Amino acid sequence: EVVVLAYSGGLDTSCILKWLLNKGYKVICYMANIGQVEDFEAAKVKALKIGASKVVIEDVREEFIKNYVWPAVSYGLIYENRYLLGTSLARPCISVSLVNCVKENNALFVAHGATGKGNDQVRFELACYTLLPDIKIIAPWRDEEFTKQFQGRQDLLKYASEHNIPVSITPKAPWSMDANLMHISYESGILENPNQEHPEDLFSMSVDPKFSPNAPIRLEITFKKGLPVLLTVNDTRTFSGLLDIFEILNEIGGSQGVGRIDIVENRFIGLKSRGVYETPGVTILYHAHTDLEVFCLDKEVYRIKQLLRDRLSDYVYNGFWFSPEGEYTRKCLDLAAETVEGTVKVQIFKGSVSILGRSSQGSLYNADLVSMDKHEGFSPQDATGFINIQAIRLREYHRCLKQNKK
Ligand code: ARG
Ligand code: SIN
Repeated sequence: EVVVLAYSGGLDTSCILKWLLNKGYKVICYMANIGQVEDFEAAKVKALKIGASKVVIEDVREEFIKNYVWPAVSYGLIYENRYLLGTSLARPCISVSLVNCVKENNALFVAHGATGKGNDQVRFELACYTLLPDIKIIAPWRDEEFTKQFQGRQDLLKYASEHNIPVSITPKAPWSMDANLMHISYESGILENPNQEHPEDLFSMSVDPKFSPNAPIRLEITFKKGLPVLLTVNDTRTFSGLLDIFEILNEIGGSQGVGRIDIVENRFIGLKSRGVYETPGVTILYHAHTDLEVFCLDKEVYRIKQLLRDRLSDYVYNGFWFSPEGEYTRKCLDLAAETVEGTVKVQIFKGSVSILGRSSQGSLYNADLVSMDKHEGFSPQDATGFINIQAIRLREYHRCLKQNKK
């Protein structure tokens, strides 16, 4: 039987590879390039040496930005008000490409190294089942035989040395990381104590804002149908390519320590988990887009959009990107995004994203109507009646309170 293993090159999935081979499977290792810093060639050599029959490396960076990250910006996705969903969004993207690999190789099985307490197992598997309903999943970290044999890292190291699996000489960081173009997440290990401060040298996409340059950076970001299409830096350099805008924003945000958070979040399966994230570029986009959207959208549409955004954020976090509710919500949100167009001026400085101004052709903002000096199309006397009517209910409330006190 052929298994496609989602391979990382690390100790866990290398041992899983050998373990599957020993169980008699033919194993194809699949790796996605989603923008993480990684020596893919070295990982490939390693997998082949362990016994993989082939290693497939797919570059999914463009798909990731185009189909997941940018829509997420336009929808304003944010989990529990803080987490921009960098890992959650990557899972369906990787799953599409992984399932294609399964189909192309006439395989039936997919194996992954996600743990039994996490979100990732749910995301990968739910995506796989929607994309290929007959797929069979092997999750060694939920397999009784596997977990009996491998109770901790020591067991993995011992197995590696017994089976000639090369182990990286650089010591393992005392936490677990997940990296892609959009963000890096850090959790477990020493971070499990939620009150222990994360170490200063944890981050790698961004500098500590305490030590960032003393010169603020000015940006102009232009959005079309809710998506960023043009970026001007310090009124001089201009970028319009998909990857360009993204990488420059990451670089600029990173250079000023933008987008670092340390949070406790609620996992789908009901556990709380402490996580540290750095998301420089998308944090800038999130703030700029939010400003433009309130500027452009009808008030009531904006409120419905906020409700749908929170629902979709949960769906994405919980692994339901591919689902009827996910599709339906995205369609509604796409409709709202159509009029979110214009340019936002932003200053990036020492970890903060400050909005300086905004302009839009299609905005509902009417300078004449809000002006204190003009009375066009609006008679102030009407406001007296408006307030009086609103006050009926409040007066009644007061009367009732007073009466009940007696
Ligand atoms: N808690 C985040 C999430 O669920 C990050 C998960 C990180 N995953 C990992 N395999 N290290 O989206
Ligand atoms: C894992 O359990 O594999 C990582 C954490 C998570 O998926 O939430």
